[in-house]
Amino acid sequence: EATASYEHIKVSTPKPGVGLIELHRPKALNALFTPLMHELNTALKAFDKDPSIGAMVLTGSAKAFAAGADIKEMSTKTFADAYGNDFIESWSELPNTIKKPVISAVNGHALGGGCELAMMCDILYCHEKANFGQPEIKLGIIPGAGGSQRLTRAIGKSKAMDLILTGRNFSGREAFEWGLAAKVFETPEACVEGAVETAGMIAGYSRMAVKAGKEVVNKSQDLGIREGVEYERRVFHGLFGSEDQKIGMQAFAEKKKAEWQHR
Ligand code: CAA
Repeated sequence: EATASYEHIKVSTPKPGVGLIELHRPKALNALFTPLMHELNTALKAFDKDPSIGAMVLTGSAKAFAAGADIKEMSTKTFADAYGNDFIESWSELPNTIKKPVISAVNGHALGGGCELAMMCDILYCHEKANFGQPEIKLGIIPGAGGSQRLTRAIGKSKAMDLILTGRNFSGREAFEWGLAAKVFETPEACVEGAVETAGMIAGYSRMAVKAGKEVVNKSQDLGIREGVEYERRVFHGLFGSEDQKIGMQAFAEKKKAEWQHR
């Protein structure tokens, strides 16, 4: 693992089974420039492959989760640069290739690409005073990392349209009340601790069942209800071929704690 060579993130294991990634570019409020995104992808993939890790937490600092894509890096781009080099495409590794659950612990600013990065995670936790927003409209652009799609699915068209077309910010408390955040916390520290605790709990379950659970919930975003339920049932049936299903159900019958395979 290339832990020592990271410059813009910090990587640690705060609890058995939990991989923690902290965005660490304090001078730019964790603005998401290309070198940082490369490091983030590398770290996510390393944890995803590591058999000792069951779930991950992605966070920033108390001041900023991430203040967006790097405006200075973007400002001189032409259409040819953006389209030709698939600008933002590499950000899709998190939602598209990472199989283990990732919880975002959002404190401080989560604006533009920062808000989008938080929404790419599987579960979003936040501080009640976190500052979310899709302010791209103020820069003469629109969200480019999934914001218009994920925010709309999470909170509905009317609210998402209002936020994206005005560029207005919203609080962590609102994110929770609208269903974007699964939990809201009174302090930034509690938010990270809460995310690590949940990741630890998830890491304690069958890796195979967790992987399947993430897969089927994500399918619900792409499929109609009927195909979605059928898909779920196929995966559910498949788990009866796993050793973990036998281990889990036998442990219940014997009133013991299940000892999963974790591989
Ligand atoms: N890109 C590059 N640099 C950024 C940045 C960003 N998105 N956000 C903050 N910074 C830099 C600032 O330029 C500043 O650097 P200098 O000290 O060198 O001047 C440093 O971080 C600290 O920022 P501020 O002095 O502005 O801090 P503040 O506390 O006064 O304000 C803030 C904080 C409200 C978050 C403000 O920095 C801000 O509005 N940032 C931009 C937010 C934004 O528009 N994000 C959307 C980007 S577009 C996008 O993300 C596209 C997409 O969909 C992928």
